This record gives sequence, structure tokens and C-alpha cells, in this order.
Amino acid sequence: MTYIIVSMVVTLNLFFYPAVVSAGENVLHIIYTGAMKGELEPCGCSPKTDFGGLARFAGYLQANREEISPYLLIDAGNFSGKDTPQGRLKTEAMLQAFKVMNYDAVALLGRENALSKEFLYSLTEKYKTPEISDMKQHETFLWLEKRGIKLNISVNPDSYQKDRLNILLTDRSLSEVRLFKGWDIIILSSGEVLEEPLRQDGTIILSGYPKGKRLGILTVTIDSRGEIKDYRHRWQLLGSDAGESTAVRRIIDEYDRMVEKLFTRDTAPVTEGPYSGVLKCAECHKPFVESWERTRHAGALDSLKRVRKSGDPECLRCHTVGYGELGGFINIEKTPALANVQCESCHGPGRKHITEYSQPMAPVSENTCKRCHTKQNSPDFNFRNYLEKISHK
Ligand code: HEC
Ligand code: HEC
Ligand code: HEC
Ligand code: HEC
Repeated sequence: MTYIIVSMVVTLNLFFYPAVVSAGENVLHIIYTGAMKGELEPCGCSPKTDFGGLARFAGYLQANREEISPYLLIDAGNFSGKDTPQGRLKTEAMLQAFKVMNYDAVALLGRENALSKEFLYSLTEKYKTPEISDMKQHETFLWLEKRGIKLNISVNPDSYQKDRLNILLTDRSLSEVRLFKGWDIIILSSGEVLEEPLRQDGTIILSGYPKGKRLGILTVTIDSRGEIKDYRHRWQLLGSDAGESTAVRRIIDEYDRMVEKLFTRDTAPVTEGPYSGVLKCAECHKPFVESWERTRHAGALDSLKRVRKSGDPECLRCHTVGYGELGGFINIEKTPALANVQCESCHGPGRKHITEYSQPMAPVSENTCKRCHTKQNSPDFNFRNYLEKISHK
């Protein structure tokens, strides 16, 4: 397996070495995720939001094992997808990846609670997840030992233990959590963003970065009495140049195949709908079609193919015409005429207009673009600049 050494790794070394450890002291790296909400990897729509994801997390852990040892790997909960067929595939892939990465503790909280108990149970059994949960018939805590450091990892705010390093995993809100007493470390999965750890009395409060965009690393120095003497925190940002774990990549590839199978829509009828496709428009608007062909809209489905997501409804809705609508894109075999972002993505359905061209098309405004150019998927979007790039000149 090859890794691309990025400059971040270099700064990391600087980060990890200066810890001055005296006799009787111990250093532990607590690497954590939380509130991943089924996001296995970023969509890759823009380099500005293309960070994180399980394959890169695992690649990072593999490539830096020595510098970050000993480490404790924790998920603070709310990692699962929704309770839908695709969401359940995400949840399974998540737990598979946790297993490959050897997570030490995984909290099952609100989102997991919303899944069917049998489904969740079958998965945690299958993947031997070291889980804790406040649901019935689950352990609420785990006792572990890492290099002589005794740990109590729990989801129950009242159950901290003497003579252990106490870590609480919770999805209560920050304002509520601030009132909890006795914990050394609290990791939230409420989805709140804490850019820096909060220090509240003796407690260090952290929050899993939503949707797995960053990996959190808290390094604590423990003194001979077992107390935290010192700590440092950093976010590991992993962009498209970060090395991936092949094992986790395989899990995500398998997920992609299952999603494609789930949504083959082989039996979906091709319906005569309001859309007609660019070839029809070409009969009367050749110059407009030619200018469109030079824009990236014309290659939007290829972008999905490149990242093996051309069967994923979550992507197709913005990268094709009318996906999910009656008469819209189904799949490339059945509806090749509606692949990519086309004329009708902006001008609206054209069926009426092609039979009677005095029938006007819908007006195009900034809001038309923003249906797809959202903050997440297109953080650089600026109507004037973007319009310039796609205009029919
Ligand atoms: C809400 C609409 C929307 C959804 C959903 C969406 N995309 Fe995109 N995607 C965009 C837009 C808009 C761009 C262009 C962004 C820009 O350049 O400003 C884009 C660009 C891309 C690119 C091209 C990046 C490049 O620089 O070449 C890829 C690849 C991509 N998306 C993959 C995906 C995948 C995979 C999914 C599903 C997991 C997805 N998209 C879901 C809107 C969307
Ligand atoms: C149906 C969804 C959709 C609509 C509506 C849409 N776009 Fe896009 N746009 C995309 C996708 C997807 C991409 C990325 C294509 C790729 O590279 O795969 C994109 C890419 C672009 C790019 C290329 C970005 C770059 O950096 O080169 C520009 C410019 C753009 N869109 C402008 C617009 C404008 C302006 C509007 C509104 C008038 C608009 N788009 C409406 C989905 C859409
Ligand atoms: C990304 C959005 C977008 C896509 C895709 C797009 N257009 Fe346009 N179109 C516009 C906008 C915005 C205008 C307004 C004038 C301009 O800025 O060029 C326009 C103008 C036009 C006009 C002239 C309207 C007039 O009043 O003179 C025609 C005709 C047209 N488009 C046809 C097409 C055809 C045919 C396609 C597909 C090959 C297409 N457009 C694809 C956004 C789009
Ligand atoms: C049979 C020929 C024909 C076809 C096919 C056709 N158009 Fe047109 N279109 C015209 C003519 C002619 C006009 C000018 C109408 C006018 O000025 O009243 C026009 C005007 C337009 C305009 C600008 C005026 C308006 O009503 O908004 C847009 C945008 C447009 N067409 C888009 C499209 C798109 C998109 C398609 C494919 C879905 C398409 N047209 C298919 C002939 C056609």
C-alpha cells in the first residue's frame, strides 16, 4: 500500500514529539469521532468540503501508528444512517469500518436508538462492536486498560469511577453537559461544533466533528496519581491527497455496489414525462447546445462514474435531469437522454415547448442554481461568477 506523504504528516511529528514525559507519567492519545450520521465519505463536490471519511481515517491511523501510540479510538455515537434501506447499508458499512480500525469503544445513542433493535443487534453481534449504550439490555460502560492507564468509558452521566480516567460519551447538548461533575473527559455527539476543547472545572469537553469531516486527537499526559496533568488537542484534516486504507476502501466499494443494486430500478417503467432531453433542444437551438457542451454540466454523470457513485440516488438528484420525478432520469440504460445536468435542469421541463415553441420556458434565476449549488456542495458559488462560466455566449 502506498501513502502520499503530505505536509500535514510532517507537522504532526512536531506535534507529537515534544511531550516531555517524566518518571511515573504516561501519555495517551484519544482519537475520536462522533455525530458522523452515516457519512462514510465526503461527496467530493468541492475541494473546500472534501475532507475526512472513513477510508482516510483508517489510512491515517495505519500510516502513523507509531507516533500516535498508545491510542484509544472512540466513537461518541450518532454514527448510523437513517432507518431506510440505504441508511441501513451505511450503518453496516460504518460498523464494518470500526471493526477494521479496531475501535476501542462505540456509543449507541439517539440515531442508533431510532433503528430497529433486531437490526442493530444483528450488526453489533456480527462485527463484535465494543459498544456501550443507554438502551435496555446494553452495558452502559466499558473498563479498559491502555499501557497501565485504567479507563472508565461510559454513557451514564452519573457513573464516574474513582481511580480511573473517566470518559463520558453523550449526545446531550453542551449546555446540559456543562453541569455534569466528576468527568475527566466528555465527548459529545450532539452535532455541535467545538473548534477547541472547553475546560470546565476539571473536565475537558470535546465534540465529534459532524459528518466525519475531521478526526479529533486529544493527547493527555497522566501523572503518577492518574490525573490529567496536561493536554493538547488537534484536528486531523484529511483531504483528497491523504492516503486511504485499502481495507476500508473495499468496504465502501461494496457499499456502493449494494446501493446500486438496491436502486437498479430495472423494472421501473420509462414514462413519457415533462422532460425531453437535450437532443430534442438541439433540433432548434444548436448554438446553445454547443455552448452547453463546453460546460462541466455536460459531464456531471461522468464525475459520478469516476467515483463509482453513478448508482447512488443521493448523488443523482443533482447530477442528472429530474431524478426521482415522474419521467425523469432512471438509469443510464433506460434514460440515457436525461443523463447529466442539462437545459431542462435550468430552463425547466420542455415537453410543451418542443411541440409548441411559443410556449415559454421557465425563467432562470439565482434560486434555480441554488437547488444544486448549495453551501455544502458548492461553497464557492457566486451567482455572477458562475453565470459567466455557463452563459451561452
Ligand atoms: C445538492 C446537489 C448535489 C448533490 C446531492 C451532489 N452533488 Fe456533486 N456537485 C454538485 C455541484 C453543484 C458541483 C459543482 C461544485 C462547484 O464546482 O462549485 C458538484 C461537483 C461534483 C464533483 C466534481 C468535482 C470536481 O472538481 O471535479 C463530483 C466528483 C461530485 N460532485 C460527486 C458527488 C457525489 C459522489 C455525490 C453523492 C454522494 C454528489 N456529488 C452529490 C451538486 C451536488
Ligand atoms: C440540477 C443541478 C444543477 C443546477 C440547477 C445548476 N447546476 Fe451548476 N453544476 C451542477 C453540478 C452537478 C456541477 C458539477 C459538474 C461536474 O463537474 O461533475 C455543476 C457545475 C457548475 C459549474 C462549474 C464550476 C466550476 O468551477 O467550473 C458552474 C460554473 C455552474 N455549475 C454554474 C451554474 C449556474 C450559474 C446555475 C444556475 C443558472 C447552475 N449551475 C445550475 C449542478 C447544477
Ligand atoms: C446552468 C443553467 C443553464 C443550462 C444548463 C442551460 N441554460 Fe440556457 N440559459 C440560461 C440562462 C441563465 C440564460 C439567460 C441568458 C444567459 O445568461 O446566457 C439562458 C438563455 C437561453 C436561451 C436564450 C433565451 C433568450 O431569452 O434569448 C436559450 C434559447 C437557451 N438558454 C437554451 C438552452 C439550451 C437549449 C440548453 C441546453 C443545451 C440550455 N439553455 C442550458 C441557463 C442555462
Ligand atoms: C421545434 C424547435 C424548438 C425546439 C425543439 C426547442 N425550442 Fe426552444 N425555442 C424555439 C423557438 C423558435 C424559440 C423562440 C420563441 C419565441 O421567441 O417566441 C425558442 C425559445 C426558447 C427559449 C427562450 C424563450 C423562452 O420561452 O424562455 C428557451 C430558454 C428555449 N427555447 C429552450 C429550449 C429548450 C431547453 C429546449 C429543449 C427542451 C427547446 N427550447 C426546444 C424553438 C424550439
